[in-house]
Amino acid sequence: MHNGGGVVSFEDLIKRQKPGFTLEQPFYCDPDIFKRDLQKIVGKAWLYVDHVSEIPNKGDFLLYNIGEESIIVVRGKDGAVNAFFNVCRHRGSHICLKESGNVRTLTCPYHAWVYDLDGNLVGARGMPEDFDKGKFPLHKCQVRVWHGLIFINMAAEDDPDVAPFDVMADDLERFVALHRLEDTKIVHREVYPTAANWKLVVDNFRECYHCIPAHPEYTMVNAYVRATDKRWEDYQPVVKEWEKETVKLGHPVGWDETSGSDHRQPYGYWRQPIREGYVTLSEDGKPVAPLLGDLKDWDGGETAFTFGALSYAYLCADHLCMFRFTPVSATHSDVVVTWHVRADAEEGKDYDLARLKWMWDVTTIEDTKIIIDNQKGVNSTRYLPGPYAPQESYSSSFASWYLERLAS
Ligand code: FES
Ligand SMILES: [Fe+2]
Repeated sequence: MHNGGGVVSFEDLIKRQKPGFTLEQPFYCDPDIFKRDLQKIVGKAWLYVDHVSEIPNKGDFLLYNIGEESIIVVRGKDGAVNAFFNVCRHRGSHICLKESGNVRTLTCPYHAWVYDLDGNLVGARGMPEDFDKGKFPLHKCQVRVWHGLIFINMAAEDDPDVAPFDVMADDLERFVALHRLEDTKIVHREVYPTAANWKLVVDNFRECYHCIPAHPEYTMVNAYVRATDKRWEDYQPVVKEWEKETVKLGHPVGWDETSGSDHRQPYGYWRQPIREGYVTLSEDGKPVAPLLGDLKDWDGGETAFTFGALSYAYLCADHLCMFRFTPVSATHSDVVVTWHVRADAEEGKDYDLARLKWMWDVTTIEDTKIIIDNQKGVNSTRYLPGPYAPQESYSSSFASWYLERLAS
């Protein structure tokens, strides 16, 4: 591996990494390291894929492509959500070629082997009479549906590097239940192709040090950005005051980034006030859709969930935004954002799409640009790891977590 003119082993690169500094250049552009990322980190993580409302009927499917993998997520015969590797057991062709659709069977386009919706091989034309179809089912991918959110994990069931999904789900239940995410639907999806390594995307999403210079709209709506620009502690009395009122409504409050978190896949949760007079993340602070789930009133709060490095949920009283970061290659990632409102909300009557998507759309467009510019500089011969600022502590902890998982 070439770095700074010399040839450095992968192990030495990890060892010489300075704590509190960004990673060395190869971590952001080397295809071999990218392969390791997929194997050791992405391939062991529970990844948010989509919302169940996208595949309501038996035979509805969608594809999730990540690195070299393609996963078929399909509604099975009994209504359960199944996930399979999109690899034919005959000679390995992709089976599903469309991004989504409805099928009665999963039929390979190459030689027409047929699988049922539960992944069993049910037809293999022209094979010898004694051919045992039972030995060639589709490879299963782990899948969980939690409050309508579909997560997959590409590792084997008994892989010790995989955090148990149910523990995370139990830990977060108290916070997520209120909004009833299972009773939402996606009303808009935006793909932001990002010419950058996935870790630059993650780094950017985990810090708000860049918010004031890069995000005038986000900064205007989210009071905490300016208030905490120098000292986080100074803002805490405002949060405490809001929490006092919010608890009276029976809504959860808190900031739980680490407790109970599994080191193999850290997850967390926080709720905080948006801004005086703002009930949701809209330009004027007024509602953009009907109240979600069991919320009794507008509490003026916003909620975030992190499910590991690549999946995030941002919620306010009337809508949910899901963020899915997908590593595509060493220097390309896809950022997919979906906007969800209550399942029974009608466009034009209950919500206006332009108002609903405004903040995260404008903010993600800005993020995409700064992340791409970041990658350009990182590719230079003069790039050296730089020190994270105190306001970037979550990015810094992500970098150390990443190195540790990679070395494990
Ligand atoms: S590769 Fe699928 S049927 Fe031949
Ligand atoms: Fe940003």
